[in-house]
Amino acid sequence: MEKIQLQDKRFKLYMPYQQIQQAVDNVAEKINADMKDVDTPIFLGVLTGSFMFLADLMKRIQVQCDVVFIRLASYEGTSSTGKVQQLLGLTKSVKGRTVVVVEDIVDTGTTISELHHILSEAGAKEIRICTLLLKPNKYCGTLKIDYPALEIPNDFIVGYGLDYNQLGRQYKDIYVLDEEVDEEENSKRKSINVR
Ligand code: IMP
Ligand code: MG
Repeated sequence: MEKIQLQDKRFKLYMPYQQIQQAVDNVAEKINADMKDVDTPIFLGVLTGSFMFLADLMKRIQVQCDVVFIRLASYEGTSSTGKVQQLLGLTKSVKGRTVVVVEDIVDTGTTISELHHILSEAGAKEIRICTLLLKPNKYCGTLKIDYPALEIPNDFIVGYGLDYNQLGRQYKDIYVLDEEVDEEENSKRKSINVR
């Protein structure tokens, strides 16, 4: 599918599934190498957005490990609220353990910094951050993003787990907001107002 419509917004194809899988291969290879001698790391999936990435990533992880989820939310529509809500807490102790956080996307970095705080307080020995997507020009955090699978510009995207108002998570490809359509609609609206 080249274009999708979610509520009031149109999105166009941005990154096909094959390209995503290549990036997952590369990041899994790095994690496997780094975790080779680590005693049973915990892979912590950040729900909801990371579910597809986590599933594809875990199929490639060759070390003994635990898989745990936490659920956080910080977005409304197409922008960050700046506040992080914890909707589902940690269901397993991370005390003394190496934790690999698995995120869908790091945008401003608010979520990841809050999560880092939660994990440190809970006594994690080491915290590594893996994300499918990183918006480096938007990121204003200080934490090192250890495993970014892909870097993208400051666009709003959906698909492969990511949503717009909870919609669009099921698509296997990634889509970007179609600005052209928005501009067209705005100019149509303007011309209506002028008349
Ligand atoms: P941050 O806290 O600003 O880094 O935002 C991180 C969270 O916001 C991610 O885990 C996503 O759930 C959501 N998010 C950020 N950018 C996008 C996007 O482009 N599309 C969909 N969700 C996004
Ligand atoms: Mg997320």
